[in-house]
Amino acid sequence: MQMEGSITVPRSKSRKSEHNPKIVVNDVYVALGGRDILEAVDLKVLPHEILCLIGASGCGKTTLLNVIAGLIQPSSGSATMDDRIIIGPGPERVMVFQEDAVFPWLRVSKNVEYGLRAIGVPRAERESRARKAIDTVGLTGRENAFPRELSGGMRKRVDLARALAVEPEVVLMDEPYAALDAITKDKLQVEFVHIAEAALMTTVFVTHDLEEALFLGDRVVVMAGSRGRIEEVVEVPFPRPRETKLKRTAPFQELRGILTEAIEGSAR
Ligand SMILES: Nc1ncnc2c1ncn2[C@@H]1O[C@H](COP(=O)(O)OP(=O)(O)OP(=O)(O)O)[C@@H](O)[C@H]1O
Ligand SMILES: [Mg+2]
Repeated sequence: MQMEGSITVPRSKSRKSEHNPKIVVNDVYVALGGRDILEAVDLKVLPHEILCLIGASGCGKTTLLNVIAGLIQPSSGSATMDDRIIIGPGPERVMVFQEDAVFPWLRVSKNVEYGLRAIGVPRAERESRARKAIDTVGLTGRENAFPRELSGGMRKRVDLARALAVEPEVVLMDEPYAALDAITKDKLQVEFVHIAEAALMTTVFVTHDLEEALFLGDRVVVMAGSRGRIEEVVEVPFPRPRETKLKRTAPFQELRGILTEAIEGSAR
């Protein structure tokens, strides 16, 4: 792992295995439109961890998620899942985007079934998996609603349910809660951790919001500058389960302050 900065934060003993990473990004280069977007990026994501990726706009976070999703092929280097090279998208890795990816003309249940239809799951199984995912995100009773009848937070739940219905091993969250109000965001963050833990998912969660990263993450990776340079990797010391009020505690705010300074320092 490229680590250029050094900051001192309290370390927690990692409860995840360091030895068998789920995802490995190994010396990845990506060029798009004649420009180098990622350069020599290395990253390991451990099984069942929530790894938060934070960094300024344009530093390459979405590009890196796209590489892991198999939507972009690196010009050199590789991304692997369980030691197998990722050569394209697959149902074991799903992405949730910032914008709602729900189709306005489909009811909630059909939106959630959409990804299952795409991978050829038969109808009865589609319906039962969709029901389960809708229940997991707390939308039971709203199966027949159209997206326009839902709040922004509910639409994000539909998005997540669509991803969960596929029963992925890895979820790639690209600033999914960026457009939500603070209270809805707090709620969805807590829900997401419960869901990710119960489903034993491995998560890469991209966010602009350092508070969100520290609340959700087992580790926070700070990307800085351009070309996806990885500046810091921080083990988040707060035990789980974490409640929203953690954000208002002194140790949380202290770590947030230390990291903010580190990020601002690296941007100078
Ligand atoms: N298809 C493309 N063709 C050319 N350049 C691209 C393409 N996709 C992204 N880029 C450029 O790559 C850089 C990184 O983009 P990326 O979307 O990965 O950043 P990001 O960190 O996700 O930013 P944000 O926080 O704003 O979402 C940007 O300079 C962007 O303009
Ligand atoms: Mg992005």
